[in-house]
Amino acid sequence: MKVIVADDYEIMSREAAKIVAAEIRKKPDSVFALPTGGTPLGLYAELIRMHKEEGLDFSRVSTFNLDEYIGLPDGHESSYSFYMYDRFFNHVNVSRDKIHIPRGLAKDPEEEAATYEWAIKRAGGIDFAVLGIGRNGHIGFNEPKTEFGSLTRPIYLAKRTIEANARFFDGDPDSVPRQAISMGIRTIMNARKVILLASGPEKSRAINQTIHGPVTEMVPSSVLQLHPDCTFFLDRDAAGELKPSPNGFIPGSGTRSMVY
Ligand code: PGA
Repeated sequence: MKVIVADDYEIMSREAAKIVAAEIRKKPDSVFALPTGGTPLGLYAELIRMHKEEGLDFSRVSTFNLDEYIGLPDGHESSYSFYMYDRFFNHVNVSRDKIHIPRGLAKDPEEEAATYEWAIKRAGGIDFAVLGIGRNGHIGFNEPKTEFGSLTRPIYLAKRTIEANARFFDGDPDSVPRQAISMGIRTIMNARKVILLASGPEKSRAINQTIHGPVTEMVPSSVLQLHPDCTFFLDRDAAGELKPSPNGFIPGSGTRSMVY
């Protein structure tokens, strides 16, 4: 695993955006898995800047969001669909018919999840997955104890996740939906390349467990130790508890890179 520790959130976001842009330039029809939440906002802002100022072209890119809440009314401002259009899609030239987000209002969430998984396969699989991480080590909405063999399916949110996400619902945990549709661990692990972004001290424990702990379903992100091409982008706070790599580090401008 490669770990890039940036001096701050802005540098972390820019470094991650460079890797995403390099993927699009190398393979313009790349299939991406995309996250929501607070962490990737800087990455999306930088990609929008690259589109506007440097002509980064998203027209052939396909996107699959990692997850969506079940049951929020159409257009709800805390839905991940609203987030993605508001924060990213409306500002770049991603083709609308290449955007995929699980439909949280589907009549049959099981069927919606299976159709979503199938759509990923039909698109040729995920080339490049961008992940955040929960304080409990969740990736997508795959909470602790999720089977590593899981595919896209309806899930229940963990209590800690509901509490953490209440900030997107006017601070009210009771307004956070209890269920979501999420890509599974296997869906994510099948991606050819994975990057994970983490910022802030509240993620430092999960990051250390992910990189140094045992590979266990109790810490879903620990499965990434088994991925052949996975890079972590951290700010200093998120890397706060990370043990140094026995291989030392490569200094860069505003970053240090380590291989574990
Ligand atoms: P955050 O969420 O970026 O809002 O911290 C990450 C996650 O829960 O996966």
